Amino acid sequence: MKAAAETVRELGFDGIDINMGCPVPAVMKRNAGAGTIGHYELAASFISAVKHGAGDMPVSVKTRLGHDKIITDEWIGFLLDQQLAALTIHGRVATQMSKGEANWEEIGRAARLRDTRAPDTLIIGNGDIKSYAHAVDAHKTYGVDGIMIGRGIFHNPWIFEKSTTPRTHTKQEYMDILVKHLTLYEETWGRTKNFEMMKKFFKMYVRDFEGANELRQALMERRKFADMIALIEADQNT
Ligand SMILES: Cc1cc2nc3c(=O)[nH]c(=O)nc-3n(C[C@H](O)[C@H](O)[C@H](O)COP(=O)(O)O)c2cc1C
Repeated sequence: MKAAAETVRELGFDGIDINMGCPVPAVMKRNAGAGTIGHYELAASFISAVKHGAGDMPVSVKTRLGHDKIITDEWIGFLLDQQLAALTIHGRVATQMSKGEANWEEIGRAARLRDTRAPDTLIIGNGDIKSYAHAVDAHKTYGVDGIMIGRGIFHNPWIFEKSTTPRTHTKQEYMDILVKHLTLYEETWGRTKNFEMMKKFFKMYVRDFEGANELRQALMERRKFADMIALIEADQNT
């Protein structure tokens, strides 16, 4: 962990976030991700090693409320004692994976615990945030300093726009952002990966307009970047 932190620092990043929340069994079995939850000595040694390697860079942790039951006071309390720059809390326990609802009441409790125990640690709440308005509401209601959004982006690619007024988007806007994503994918992975991975994102962009289903189906059948772009262009010219 120390060596990894040193590498991250040398690469010029601004901070390091330690993943203490991943619930994938193969990861947890190795005492990594959410496998650290409740293993206080191990977790403390990870954080300490990363801090040593990180030098002046801020170190944060992202975690969950517990392993199979909520242990906010013990686990979050322990992390608050580690003098972290920030602590992101996903409001589920590890065994829940992504199921059920995120427990924002408990995230709020963690934020109050922070107020007395580690006033300098920022608390970032995470789980089920669906819109910017929802994020603002959670910020006000639960006393967190920030919100982290994961899957919300799949439902609304514009979720980070700082507007609490819902906006509908035109087909052209969806197509522009799809082409941008495809182009970035091609530039980043074009030589090493195929476009299979990209296909799961089509539903994000190709929807809510007439002919969306047909276009999405046709895109699914294309394998190359150029063919996908050609199809989108042809569709726009019809
Ligand atoms: C496909 C996928 C991959 C994820 N990968 C990571 C990861 O690498 N590190 C991490 O801390 N969380 C990861 N998460 C968890 C999310 O960061 C987030 O904690 C979780 O999805 C709950 O927030 P949400 O309801 O806003 O999505 C992942 C989630 C999904 C759906």
